[in-house]
Amino acid sequence: MKIPYLDLKDVTALHQAEIQQAVSEVVGSGWYLQGRALQQFEQHYAAYIGTRFCVGVANGLDALTLTLRAYKEMGRLHEGDQVLVPANTFIATVLAVTENQLIPVFVDVDADTLDLNLESLESSITSKTKALMLVHLYGRCTYNERIKTLCETHNLLLIEDNAQAHGCIYKSAQPTLNCLHSTVNYKTGSLGHAACHSFYPGKNLGALGDGGAVTTNDEALAQMICSMGNYGFSEKYVATYKGRNSRLDEVQAAVLDVKLNYLDQENQRRIDIARTYYKYIKNENARLPKLMDNGDNVYHIFPVFTSHRDQLKQHLQDRGIGTLIHYPIPPHLQGCYKEYNNLSLPVTERLAKEELSLPLNPTMTDEEVMYVVETLNSQF
Ligand SMILES: Cc1ncc(COP(=O)(O)O)c(C=O)c1O
Repeated sequence: MKIPYLDLKDVTALHQAEIQQAVSEVVGSGWYLQGRALQQFEQHYAAYIGTRFCVGVANGLDALTLTLRAYKEMGRLHEGDQVLVPANTFIATVLAVTENQLIPVFVDVDADTLDLNLESLESSITSKTKALMLVHLYGRCTYNERIKTLCETHNLLLIEDNAQAHGCIYKSAQPTLNCLHSTVNYKTGSLGHAACHSFYPGKNLGALGDGGAVTTNDEALAQMICSMGNYGFSEKYVATYKGRNSRLDEVQAAVLDVKLNYLDQENQRRIDIARTYYKYIKNENARLPKLMDNGDNVYHIFPVFTSHRDQLKQHLQDRGIGTLIHYPIPPHLQGCYKEYNNLSLPVTERLAKEELSLPLNPTMTDEEVMYVVETLNSQF
């Protein structure tokens, strides 16, 4: 059996006819940027996430960068302010901070839950700390009441990086930091002051190219991001800010609007596959993340951790199973961040040496899932 880590052709094939119809309508419309498809998707996605506003941008990194940039223009952040970031994240979260001349303060994660280590988080806060980037890595919600209290107590902006967790639900009887209405099922992307989404093709909600968005209840922020992504124009050809070009185009918006209708169903399939993995994987060399099966995980990535990563990867590959590593080098150890290379963030550094992602996507059949399980279990 051959099971690639992810075959995007199969993912697209799930809704091929509808996607082709939507693309062909855009092609025939003669209107390719900032038109009806974008407006519709922004409305639908804001309603889905549960925020007042959604602003489409060109990709997830731009969503993060423009959000921080907009907060600077609005006087909420200033050059040299400190921004808390999880050490265990994809580099884009950190690039957005440094691109804005803000200072990333790396916080290590808990080895069991992979959440931010709350003690380290608290002790990292100084009078210069102004924001927290909360990354729902691997598709699991990492927001909780303590994070909310910490943000309230220290007056921190809470910015979610929801690139990996579209459709993920946070259940709580308590209102979240910045919620519109009290409910018990909050979506990630609505929990803080702003949230940044990537629609990179491999994401749970993926475009046929690059795409991203910011969701927020803050009208001034939404307008500022809109303007920043459109040359800084406050109206056509009137540049109030030094902006850039970062737009979600009509083709991608139309594709995303189709795929949004199936997101919950596909996330449910991911959850079912993850449950099978949790139930049947028994390999004493492969540690699974602590199971917190309370519906707060949409399993964008299913990581296992092993000190025999090369052997396990090879064992799976020899039997036709593709895997990936998320991520082999943590941001603070990257060559572009020499100034942070001497930091010690031991849990993150160990995870980077041990992480291996198993295939998990809605196109997988039950047989394929069990083949992954059996192959993994047969390693030793
Ligand atoms: C956690 C996280 N943040 C940000 C990004 C950046 O998104 P994009 O690739 O759309 O720029 C990604 C994905 O690539 C991601 O996984």
